[in-house]
Amino acid sequence: MRKRIIAGNWKMNMDHIEGSSLASLILEGIGEKELPCEVVVIPPFTTLPAVAEVFAGSKVDTGAQDLWYEDAGAFTGEISGSMISRLGCRYVLVGHSERRHILGEGSGILALKLRAALRAGLTPIYCVGEAAEERESGNAEDVVEKQVREVLEGLGPEEISRTVVAYEPVWAIGTGKTATPEDASGMHSFIRGLIAGIFDKEAAGRILILYGGSVKPGNASELLGCGDIDGALVGGASLDAGQFLGIIFS
Ligand code: PGA
Repeated sequence: MRKRIIAGNWKMNMDHIEGSSLASLILEGIGEKELPCEVVVIPPFTTLPAVAEVFAGSKVDTGAQDLWYEDAGAFTGEISGSMISRLGCRYVLVGHSERRHILGEGSGILALKLRAALRAGLTPIYCVGEAAEERESGNAEDVVEKQVREVLEGLGPEEISRTVVAYEPVWAIGTGKTATPEDASGMHSFIRGLIAGIFDKEAAGRILILYGGSVKPGNASELLGCGDIDGALVGGASLDAGQFLGIIFS
């Protein structure tokens, strides 16, 4: 049985003061309750140390939203995987659609970033997903296949066993539109099939594939009830402790 992850991507929201308050509210809301899944909070870089401190020793993990692909050196403005892991973080997003579409990151750089994350001992959450036009023209699977192959092919068995995939259809991110559970789980099993083809059945059976795109307390349990959906990457709803907790305990 695969574990389940609920990850909250705060994007460019919550400075370190607001972020520690939100982290404390999440911890209070969890209280003594047993977590039904792994919970990961992914704040902006400057908020990360404060949030990591609030969650230190708790059951909640932290992650970063991006990393650079070299381990150190003259890369003004960039942050390395080891800087992130030394804060106690376990996860890092790679290839979020906002980085692909606003910052123009493509497979070449994302393949390097994913490997840098693994080198630093982090678990990369590799985001894939098609845009609205690509779905409308019937190309969603081709687009996702290319994103998966170009970045994950060539990883060793140990590396793929430490990698998480998040399927986030671009048209569902921050729009209030969610993929139907049928469409989402169809794409999740397609991705799992790709992993089986590129690697093997064991890797496919083990890899966690999260769904992202307007996940809310009201739609979480239906989506998470689908066999191939192993958790959620939550944007907007993770900025509200009540809603985030609603998804965690859905
Ligand atoms: P959303 O964002 O939940 O606000 O749609 C998801 C994401 O971008 O990871």
